[in-house]
Amino acid sequence: MSQVPQHIAIVMDGNGRWASRRFLPRIAGHRQGVESLRRCVRAVAQRDVKVLTVFAFSSENWNRPADEVSGLMELFAKALGREVPQLKLDGIRIHFVGERAGLSAKVAAGIEQAESATAMNSSLVLNICFNYGGRWDIVQAAAKLAAQGKPVTEQALSAAMGLAHVADPDLVIRTGGEQRISNFLLWQSAYSEFYFSDKLWPEFDEAELDRAIESYGKRERRFGKTSEQLTQSGASEVTSLKQE
Ligand code: IPE
Ligand code: IPE
Ligand code: MG
Repeated sequence: MSQVPQHIAIVMDGNGRWASRRFLPRIAGHRQGVESLRRCVRAVAQRDVKVLTVFAFSSENWNRPADEVSGLMELFAKALGREVPQLKLDGIRIHFVGERAGLSAKVAAGIEQAESATAMNSSLVLNICFNYGGRWDIVQAAAKLAAQGKPVTEQALSAAMGLAHVADPDLVIRTGGEQRISNFLLWQSAYSEFYFSDKLWPEFDEAELDRAIESYGKRERRFGKTSEQLTQSGASEVTSLKQE
């Protein structure tokens, strides 16, 4: 069985503290965070991972000071314009997951452009959770089913969620030292393995990515079963359970 997670999700936390420690404005930390993400995407693509999902802006981040929020929106729009051409060349397919209503015209246009420019790509799927919350995702999926008059089942709800186009994350990494989910993939992380890193996001590098992947490789994913069941019947049973 492959020891490399197929889908890694990351809560990119710690930009503000990285900046504060250098007596810089918080936005300087976010700028550095973009650099870190660029490196991370490249490193992940080199490691045979199929899907990378990152948390870039949460539903709750609107509650930050207005200048930080507007700075983040501007940085996001600019970074998209700058990074998408290379991501396109690298075969990376970008998806945005989150509430699009309420975003500025500039940000919305950047999102649409990034998605359409990379729609034919298939080497790595990069999901960017922006204006995203796990509760929002569950509610919007349930509302979709209700509007269509469909019964609410696990399968139907999964299919209506923001990450329906990929399998659930195998590994969720959170940088910045906090050990909480902060309304990230509440539904999809039901059986993910977690790796909490004390590195601040701008400091996250290949070595730390490899430590996370190595740690993942040592975990026993039981999906509710006993350890003995897994060793008796081998990996095939785990795989079939995951597909149920
Ligand atoms: C994460 O870094 C980036 C966003 C939430 C947009 P923070 O800005 O939360 O950094 P800290 O946690 O304050 O250090
Ligand atoms: C989570 O980080 C959101 C993102 C990384 C985009 P926060 O910094 O917003 O989380 P809390 O507030 O510390 O829980
Ligand atoms: Mg934070």
